[in-house]
Amino acid sequence: MNIPILNNFAIKHELDKADQHHGYMQYYQVILENLTPTHKHLLELGIHKGNSLRMWAEALPDWEIYGLDNNSLRSCPDSYSELNIHQYIGSQNDLDIINKIFNDAGNFDVVVDDASHISPLTIDSFKLIAPRLHKDSIYVIEDLGVCERPECNPYNFSVWQFLESIKNDYKIVQYNDEMVSIQGF
Ligand SMILES: C[S@@+](CC[C@H](N)C(=O)[O-])C[C@H]1O[C@@H](n2cnc3c(N)ncnc32)[C@H](O)[C@@H]1O
Repeated sequence: MNIPILNNFAIKHELDKADQHHGYMQYYQVILENLTPTHKHLLELGIHKGNSLRMWAEALPDWEIYGLDNNSLRSCPDSYSELNIHQYIGSQNDLDIINKIFNDAGNFDVVVDDASHISPLTIDSFKLIAPRLHKDSIYVIEDLGVCERPECNPYNFSVWQFLESIKNDYKIVQYNDEMVSIQGF
């Protein structure tokens, strides 16, 4: 897929995904360039101030951008004027809200988990969302390292262990100590 330089959009929207911080945009660039989208739908778990949703909306103007956050104060205030952004309030592991999002959107080519970074919730939402994706969809989990903090891992079950357990069933496109991209649903 032909796309503009994503890092420029991440810098403009002051995202920690940009090269001077986490440096995730170089991976998104490769992921999206190699993607053949069937829906042109992207879902990001974790909205905060909506900067990331705006970044995707601007970089991918012919896509529909969906966001979910469990904090109603976390929203993209003037986002509704940007027609390709759709926001939902609820937890990343809430079946009802995930059902609603899929009912509304159909399916997603890209899912980004930048929400709680708490291992059990991260695993729960992967288990709710991944089986519904199509085989070429990409599911990205950001900030994996955060999950190793004890307060992020109250059940002493790391998302790393989970990824180890699924790696024979899914294609791990990108796998380092900060971020994983998974394909093959
Ligand atoms: C790192 S911020 C998201 C930043 C945003 N993706 C960006 O790049 O601009 C994390 C967000 O996840 C939300 N969050 C925390 N726990 C959540 C949960 N269980 N379900 C959904 N969202 C959650 C927080 O309210 C917060 O707004």
